[in-house]
Amino acid sequence: MRVVVIGANGQLGADIYEKFLEHGDQVIPLDHSVIEVKDYNSVKANMLRLNPELVINTAAMHHVERCEEEPEEAFLVNGIGARNIALLSNELDYTVMHISTDYVFDGLKNSPYVESDSPNPLNMYGYSKLIGEYFVRTIAERYYIVRVSGLYGINPCRAKGGRNFVTSMLTMAQEGKELRVVDDEVLTPTYTTDVAKQLVILSRVQDYGLYHVTSQGACTWYEFAQKIFQLTDMKVSLARAEQGEFSTKVLRPKYSVLENAHLKSLDLDGMPHWEDGLKRYLNALKRDGRLPKYGFNAKWKCANSSF
Ligand SMILES: NC(=O)c1ccc[n+]([C@@H]2O[C@H](COP(=O)([O-])OP(=O)(O)OC[C@H]3O[C@@H](n4cnc5c(N)ncnc54)[C@H](OP(=O)(O)O)[C@@H]3O)[C@@H](O)[C@H]2O)c1
Repeated sequence: MRVVVIGANGQLGADIYEKFLEHGDQVIPLDHSVIEVKDYNSVKANMLRLNPELVINTAAMHHVERCEEEPEEAFLVNGIGARNIALLSNELDYTVMHISTDYVFDGLKNSPYVESDSPNPLNMYGYSKLIGEYFVRTIAERYYIVRVSGLYGINPCRAKGGRNFVTSMLTMAQEGKELRVVDDEVLTPTYTTDVAKQLVILSRVQDYGLYHVTSQGACTWYEFAQKIFQLTDMKVSLARAEQGEFSTKVLRPKYSVLENAHLKSLDLDGMPHWEDGLKRYLNALKRDGRLPKYGFNAKWKCANSSF
């Protein structure tokens, strides 16, 4: 299959590029220097030139605070960008695989969200991503919309200054900061490599529609941090915090666990438990010599960061 990956130098896009390549596809990586999704003509020129069968769109403005401060830009990238890709899919006959987010939900359900649950975003990021979903659903004849959550991967997350939650925790600890991490936001952290493998599987079935693709299980950010330090055998002074303690003015869902119900209904759900993904990720960092060395019993101080 001839596959174009938009945002291929991003955290998720880089893994998607690799996994489709490993599976024998002809994969063309596009980064922001060659495509601007907000611009219909830029998308059109690239798609005409490349003649893809599948276009995977990972491009997004997803720094949550920035989206709140610059809502127009968020709607242009996350909404109009998705619309441009969808519009051209019918004209140029390709399938769209569009990446979305757990932040389309308000978190009030308190049990895992399935694809048929009604979204109700709490912030501009969630609204703009939901609009992107609606454009894809209503315009593209063949599409997969894939909601993911709490991503971390080997490749730097470009929208978050190259960090993800795991590397942030490790770095802030190394800087000798005390860690206070929210214990009232529940999610499912997910390793980007696992998402990428699942997308390859999904691309092989022509069962189009909306999919949740996250790891199994759930935890709070605090529990996630606790597990990171347990697996790296670090003794850290880690304190529980509440959402309201930090200076951010952006509302976030307190519960955004997704169930991969659509994948399960097709017997395609190959996503592992989040702890399994974290172990493999930490091993990969260690193999690459990127796991910092720590002394025991140090006291680290830092505020939580927003992911
Ligand atoms: N990270 C998470 O925890 C998380 C959670 C849920 C959902 N998601 C979704 O997952 C997807 C991938 O996230 P990620 O973590 O891989 O992000 P990332 O590392 O920031 O990658 C995003 C990529 O999109 C490119 N891009 C941004 N704006 C663009 C534009 N206007 N036109 C063309 N390319 C553009 C970026 O290039 P530049 O950096 O050069 O602009 C980058 O290559 C996004 O759709 C996001 O909404 C992420």
